[in-house]
Amino acid sequence: MPELKETSGFQYLKGTRFDRLTIQNRPRPFIAEVETFKHYPQAQKVALPRTWQLTEERLSPLIQNRRSLRKYAPEPISLEHLAFLLWASQGITGQAGRYLFRSTPSAGALYPVETYLNVHSVTGLAPGLFHFDVQNFVLDRLTEEDQADAVARACLDQSFMAQAPVVFLWTGVFRRAMHKYGNRGVRYILLDAGHICQNVMIAAEAVGCGGCPVAAIYDSEINQLLQIDEEEESILYAASVGKKILP
Ligand SMILES: Cc1cc2nc3c(=O)[nH]c(=O)nc-3n(C[C@H](O)[C@H](O)[C@H](O)COP(=O)(O)O)c2cc1C
Repeated sequence: MPELKETSGFQYLKGTRFDRLTIQNRPRPFIAEVETFKHYPQAQKVALPRTWQLTEERLSPLIQNRRSLRKYAPEPISLEHLAFLLWASQGITGQAGRYLFRSTPSAGALYPVETYLNVHSVTGLAPGLFHFDVQNFVLDRLTEEDQADAVARACLDQSFMAQAPVVFLWTGVFRRAMHKYGNRGVRYILLDAGHICQNVMIAAEAVGCGGCPVAAIYDSEINQLLQIDEEEESILYAASVGKKILP
């Protein structure tokens, strides 16, 4: 039985890390591009109605208006809004026996994704790095210093990340899913991260904010900032969040 770091799942994640030294010259297989839309020209076409009057009227504008937002109003976001976004990301919303279910689905209810934040500008919360303790619905302060610049540098120097009042940082704890699903568990970890990020983006829209999902990351730089052991846990995904600039 290979240990975690010998599995092809772990080796895949390791082999696809970005780092500053190799990013320019890393060998990338040539894979020809294909079209964004798939067509079945011979198929019978069923036109879909666009004027539905169903009960999703509250959700539709949030989905319609969500766009990746890379410029933010200068004001901070409130702690209440941040708490709402965290609840939307992974808040506990139900229980069955010993299982505590969350706002986003997870294969086997194993919840391999951890949430960290860099708080740059939130009312009533001094800046710094935090960990989200899902079980107790509290933030664990990890640093006293705002790490917005370091986070932006680690996100392939995307400077808008340094301006965001909050940056979400999502890591995977590989063993949580891989002890049960083996290499296939890696797929599930990545899928979980996608669900979580999308919930945050839609919830942000609901409170006058917006954000941008970011996967262009120098993995080890974020792992070091978070002081996590990257043989067990590693950054997967990030997202900025801030208030929209009103027209
Ligand atoms: C997995 C993933 C990674 C992304 N990484 C970045 C990124 O590093 N920087 C960035 O500016 N946008 C990033 N985006 C945002 C996409 O560019 C954006 O979703 C796309 O252009 C579609 O625009 P929309 O989100 O406004 O609909 C990412 C999106 C996804 C889903």
